[in-house]
Amino acid sequence: MFDIPHLDLPPLTLACGTVRLPGSKSISNRVLLLAGLAEGTTELRDLLASDDTRVMLDALRALGCGVEPVAGARDAWRITGLGGRLAVHEADLFLGNAGTAMRPLTATLALLAATQGGSFTLRGVARMHERPIADLVDALRPLGCTIDDLGRPGYPPLRVSGERGGTLALHGPIRVRGDVSSQFLTALLLALPLAADARDLVVEVEGELISKPYVEITLALLARFGIVVQRAGESRFTIARGSVYRSPGRLHVEGDASSASYFIAAGAIAAAGGAPVRIEGVGSDSIQGDVAFVDVARAMGAQVASGPGWIEVRRGRWPLAGLTIDANHLPDAAMTLAMMALYADGPTRIGGIASWRVKETDRIAAMATELRKLGAAVVEGADFIEVTPPPAPVDWRAAAIATYDDHRMAMCASLAAFNPLAGAHVPLRILEPRCVAKTFPDYFEALLGLVQAAPDDVPVIAIDGPTASGKGTLAAAVARALGFHLLDSGLLYRATGLAATRDGVALDDAPRLAALAATLDLRFGQGEEAGRTWLRGREVSDELRLEASGLAASRVSALPAVREALHGLQLAFRRAPGLVADGRDMGTVVFPAAGLKVFLTASAAERAERRHKQLISKGISANIADLRADLEARDERDRKRVVAPLKPAGDALLLDNSQLDIEASVSRVLGWWQERSPFERARERRARAGEQAPPRRHE
Ligand code: DC
Repeated sequence: MFDIPHLDLPPLTLACGTVRLPGSKSISNRVLLLAGLAEGTTELRDLLASDDTRVMLDALRALGCGVEPVAGARDAWRITGLGGRLAVHEADLFLGNAGTAMRPLTATLALLAATQGGSFTLRGVARMHERPIADLVDALRPLGCTIDDLGRPGYPPLRVSGERGGTLALHGPIRVRGDVSSQFLTALLLALPLAADARDLVVEVEGELISKPYVEITLALLARFGIVVQRAGESRFTIARGSVYRSPGRLHVEGDASSASYFIAAGAIAAAGGAPVRIEGVGSDSIQGDVAFVDVARAMGAQVASGPGWIEVRRGRWPLAGLTIDANHLPDAAMTLAMMALYADGPTRIGGIASWRVKETDRIAAMATELRKLGAAVVEGADFIEVTPPPAPVDWRAAAIATYDDHRMAMCASLAAFNPLAGAHVPLRILEPRCVAKTFPDYFEALLGLVQAAPDDVPVIAIDGPTASGKGTLAAAVARALGFHLLDSGLLYRATGLAATRDGVALDDAPRLAALAATLDLRFGQGEEAGRTWLRGREVSDELRLEASGLAASRVSALPAVREALHGLQLAFRRAPGLVADGRDMGTVVFPAAGLKVFLTASAAERAERRHKQLISKGISANIADLRADLEARDERDRKRVVAPLKPAGDALLLDNSQLDIEASVSRVLGWWQERSPFERARERRARAGEQAPPRRHE
């Protein structure tokens, strides 16, 4: 996950490949609650691991449900439910910004406390306290539920309470408004079976029900837990007397269809000429309404194929066709449409989206503001948005897109990076990208795994310097801070040396060493395995760090044929969003056009001291004087060799870190990068051009 203040994306030119979606948020939180209410244990597989499900899991734990990870399986939990009886009668629940936890838990706990006694506080982040819940409270109070507003009336935080032995007034239909959010109806449908022991319960929706597909998800999942809801028309739902939640035993959560929309869009925009974007985890058999987004994408020009559990998308018509649509039935995925509108041949008008105003942020206002920053013309109204793409390629701007702590704003924003396909060429900055953790913690990693940028557009920071100068540590920290890939080029030479030693190849046998280097079977760990290395399928992470490997590397690296053989491998590390490369010749030979080159130095005494500490900490005894002599000999060899000798590039910035700690070195390099990054340069260019250009017609 990118835990960084902003993520810079280079202009992207292509998307293809396969993405596996995380579990659906809507399904995950519904089944968690149902499993928590049911009798017995339910095993939930492929649950979404995100902020919103974490708060639900925490709440279930606080309420006394059994919550255990399934050993040996990722994202699988075993939930032992309450069987309709409160195990805990007081709790203070923090529900973050998860509407899918706040609404149903309010309804559930209000009903349970009213008859079994108890007092429960439900609160969230500041934004949650601005999201209305009055329609649900108004439906519950007439039933005899006690609900106190702890802040602004009609908004969380709330306290629900009641006395043991209390009764509920359940004759007559239970009325709920459906025109602000369908989650209020969902909350009631999920909770009311708790109170259906004596009579049929009827729920009537007042006003036009919005976001109907989400109610379909609720009904489908209730059915999985043994509860049948009968419907009469659009607005009358009956829960049969004697309904009890019955655990289905094991339940598999399908991939998130709203999350699929970004990849459907990426395929429609950028899967051109070759392989499609293939999405796995959701498909034609989905119970989620947002799969209907494929029809909208088709209407804009995408070529879509789908089957059970998969969708494949390619670009069809180009540019996309602007359209007018009532998106009441797919409010979340429709945000993606607003971004696709940037690539259309005319305006796109999305109506029926009043609910956007009460989501994680006011999404109509947020979308309008950010799309304008990119150069689009936007008209917004109470319940619609109309987007006209930038009139010409030059009208696209390098924009820093704010994300409003809204996961969908952040994921949507990334689609603007395909601007080269509209003839533009601007980098994109996404502020606070971490907010995608709400539903898709690895969204950017997944997207970046599918896209291509022109290599020249992928920024490189080269960090060169002598052995033990600390460049490895510095490069790794800078890469982490920027969300960039990391190339430790020394490892490639070390691995070549190691492979040679294993195969009995002499360290001066240039042709055989070059052949070895060209066919190195090396794998570098990603994600949780970052920092680990495998050679020919065997982990060699520690072995590569040994002094013997360094010495062998120093020898093989003096051979031009070996350097040549490793050249292409190093270039292949240059992938979006960017690369930090450390070594000896990153700035001089491998990436001579790197946007920032740093040459790190430290006195030999200081470096010997550091290496000494490093070895001692690993339990290896060492002598400082020997280490220093050894370092100096290696420096000498690296400096004097004919090919790619160790020397700073002409345009490198020198950083003597003898007196600097690692944080200080990192912030120095990040400061330099901030001034030179392609994003800053594009903005400066723009600002300079803007001073001369006449005002734009759509502003
Ligand atoms: O940085 P390191 O200690 O892992 O490097 C091991 C050896 O590899 C070092 O003696 C020099 C050589 N090397 C090189 O010649 N060019 C590079 N880009 C990286 C390392």
